Amino acid sequence: MKTIVSIAEMQIFSERARIGRKTIGLVPTMGYLHKGHLSLIAKARRSCDVVITSIFVNPAQFAPNEDFARYPRDIEQDTRLCKSAGSTVLFVPTEGEMYPEGYSTYVSVDGLSTILEGKFRPTHFRGVTTVVAKLLSLTKPHKAFFGQKDAQQCVVIKKMVKDLNLGVAVVTAPIVRDKDGLAMSSRNIYLSAEQRSEALILHASLRRAEEVAEKGERSAPAIAAEVTGLIQTMPSAEIDYVAVVNAESLADVDSIERGVPVLVALAVRFGTTRLIDNVIINIR
Ligand code: PAJ
Repeated sequence: MKTIVSIAEMQIFSERARIGRKTIGLVPTMGYLHKGHLSLIAKARRSCDVVITSIFVNPAQFAPNEDFARYPRDIEQDTRLCKSAGSTVLFVPTEGEMYPEGYSTYVSVDGLSTILEGKFRPTHFRGVTTVVAKLLSLTKPHKAFFGQKDAQQCVVIKKMVKDLNLGVAVVTAPIVRDKDGLAMSSRNIYLSAEQRSEALILHASLRRAEEVAEKGERSAPAIAAEVTGLIQTMPSAEIDYVAVVNAESLADVDSIERGVPVLVALAVRFGTTRLIDNVIINIR
């Protein structure tokens, strides 16, 4: 595996791979890699000749009050993991090259970026779409891989790719969880043992949502109330939102219709750590 830091070198590498008719897969990450990230690299490996994994803790997607400065970083461990998962290139651009002095161009997807996560993190998706647009432009992948863990991010990126005719296939992969159900996240290390055990309610409440829907509950507010009620049994949990929306458009739904996938998405804070999780329910 080759590590590339310079943008110019990355562009030349990708240009050559394209000329050599290699299929390029991009897995964008912010590092501190876990099995969720590694599943994306492994998936990319299965369908692409060249897998570029990027690690860049993107300042543009953090608000001033968020955890940019303390976001976990471990480039040695990430390099090992990335290599063993089958990445061909590890791309680690610098902040200075990604956002040089005077940088002023941003990509934002209207509408989809201001609901759900966007209500609580108003500048977040503009930062995500800007950095992903830059990464796509400079690595020129045929396919880009994203985790369902960030369900709204997947929808926003698909919309950007469609609207801007970026000509890359956006591939999504399922949420990878710890054995006890907690969705893997680089931010889980912030949790105390007690908070971590309380956070198990997130997956449990989403399982309950699936269960009540399977048993015939079709009302979106009733399902949201079931999830909310369970989370509220945990003393330190503070809910930002629990939403039941159309899984493709993220529009609010009143009820679950047969054959129409709905996304049950939530964001909950435990102390200063904010966790997100979701499940897609599709009644056949
Ligand atoms: P990051 O949080 O590092 O996540 C990188 C990719 O890994 C995202 O596509 C995310 O959805 C996926 N991922 C994270 N946890 C996962 C899990 N438990 N199971 C499956 N996939 C998981 O998301 C970002 O970085 C950034 O916003 C980025 C797209 C890199 C732009 O800066």
